Amino acid sequence: MKVSVIIDGQMVQIEQGAPIIDAAKKAGIFIPTLCYHEALKPYGSCCLCIVEVIQDGQRRLVTSCNFPAAVGMEIFTNTARVRQSRRMIVELLLVRCPDVPLLQTMAKQMGTGLSRFKTREANECILCGLCVRFCEEVVGVGAIGLANRGVDREVATPFKMASDVCIGCGSCTYICPTGCIKMVSDRKTPNLRSLKMGNCSLVPCPNSYQCETCQIEQEFFKDIKRVIAEFRSKGQ
Ligand code: SF4
Ligand code: SF4
Ligand code: FES
Repeated sequence: MKVSVIIDGQMVQIEQGAPIIDAAKKAGIFIPTLCYHEALKPYGSCCLCIVEVIQDGQRRLVTSCNFPAAVGMEIFTNTARVRQSRRMIVELLLVRCPDVPLLQTMAKQMGTGLSRFKTREANECILCGLCVRFCEEVVGVGAIGLANRGVDREVATPFKMASDVCIGCGSCTYICPTGCIKMVSDRKTPNLRSLKMGNCSLVPCPNSYQCETCQIEQEFFKDIKRVIAEFRSKGQ
């Protein structure tokens, strides 16, 4: 069933229960995101996609990538409160990752520069979880996860050991918005490349990333195409 919502003064119709970000897309309104990807389940961790809504007479801030649109909802994507909240989120992310170009560009676009807060130890991972969820939900492997809490939170393989389930498909490197996971060459055997993320090593590719001739890669892409076709057939 479709519901009508008003977003920045435009009325649009979207599926009941679909996230607010779908209404924004339909209305051609850009909402910045970091942890959202349309092929993955909503995660709602970065809060950058924050918008203001009026629902049942109450006005409040919600994350648009996972908050369901409802009948009669009024949505505002660019109020002073929204802009201020997004600036604060980017500044806080810059504390953890001051050298990440994506965050620097976003900060500039939002009219803020260097973070007011003190950097503890520079990191490239913004903890968006895209790599973890892609590996789990699309590749179907689950070789990496988010470990530890607070400032020590990080993406890692179980016990930070070389993974024996990672197939070396490289999807995590493609989807990472900060370039934090890299393919690196083995110094002793330059043809053998592996994936590096901080201290964590993923299994070297058995075919040295010669993807065109790789059986695993071909099967992987066949699966990806099937997943995308299923996803589209559900009308999402
Ligand atoms: S390279 Fe390994 S960790 Fe990365 S998505 Fe593929 S299977 Fe998962
Ligand atoms: S490694 Fe990249 S994709 Fe994974 S959580 Fe960190 S920033 Fe996100
Ligand atoms: S994009 Fe919505 S919470 Fe990250």
